[in-house]
Amino acid sequence: MIFGAILAGGKGSRMGIDKPKQFLMLGEKPILIHTLEKFLLCEKIDELYVGVHPDWMDYAQDLLDKYMNENNTIVLVSGGKDRNSTIFNIVEEIEKKHGESEEHIIVTHDSVRPFVTHRIINDNIEKAIQYGACDTVLEAADTIVVSQNGEEISEIPERNKMFQGQTPQSFKMSLLKKLYCDLSEEEKNILTDACKICVVRNVPVKLVKGEVSNFKITTMSDFKIAKAMVMEE
Ligand code: CTP
Repeated sequence: MIFGAILAGGKGSRMGIDKPKQFLMLGEKPILIHTLEKFLLCEKIDELYVGVHPDWMDYAQDLLDKYMNENNTIVLVSGGKDRNSTIFNIVEEIEKKHGESEEHIIVTHDSVRPFVTHRIINDNIEKAIQYGACDTVLEAADTIVVSQNGEEISEIPERNKMFQGQTPQSFKMSLLKKLYCDLSEEEKNILTDACKICVVRNVPVKLVKGEVSNFKITTMSDFKIAKAMVMEE
């Protein structure tokens, strides 16, 4: 089976407002609902899970009741202390319901990337089935500068080898779980990106082409851009 895992367990502290940014209104509906709708339109996704911060579960349930058609089954799961913990709370919930299987694919996506496209989701599913793990990336438009101390340049890598990571990040669920379970607690604290778990264990992660529009709403200025984009749709 193919599962969508929408990550909405964060509190959006960099936004500096009184509620997690995924609940802000973007046009007529909250950011989270825009994102869920993109996944519901993908006919290959069998079931959709959302990881929400434990303090915001009732709030999120109210939003689903208000904005979602009752025929769409969306399973709310309590989020974890970091992004990967939220993913693995969802994995646990999926396995409770459907058991473990080598065939299960999980497409993990930030709730705050509401402009993900059908093409990106489909490419993720295809590559995860074929190769086991994939990441959505964007060719770096700017030169990337590395600084070890934040004060002077240590290195300027060749731009054509630099990419910016987006989401979805998609995996054979059994592979991701095995890699995660093998990590020490210390590694779990450092490896906050799901693809990095594969990379440190030398498991190849294929690239899926992202889009500039698939940006993550992190700050108030991102949110202003997102509002302008919705008005133009
Ligand atoms: N996320 C999650 N569980 C966590 C932390 C983050 O599901 N414990 C999700 C966020 O809800 C978001 C995505 O991961 O959709 C990307 O994270 P980020 O933009 O860093 O969101 P926040 O953690 O909410 O923001 P901030 O770092 O500003 O607090």
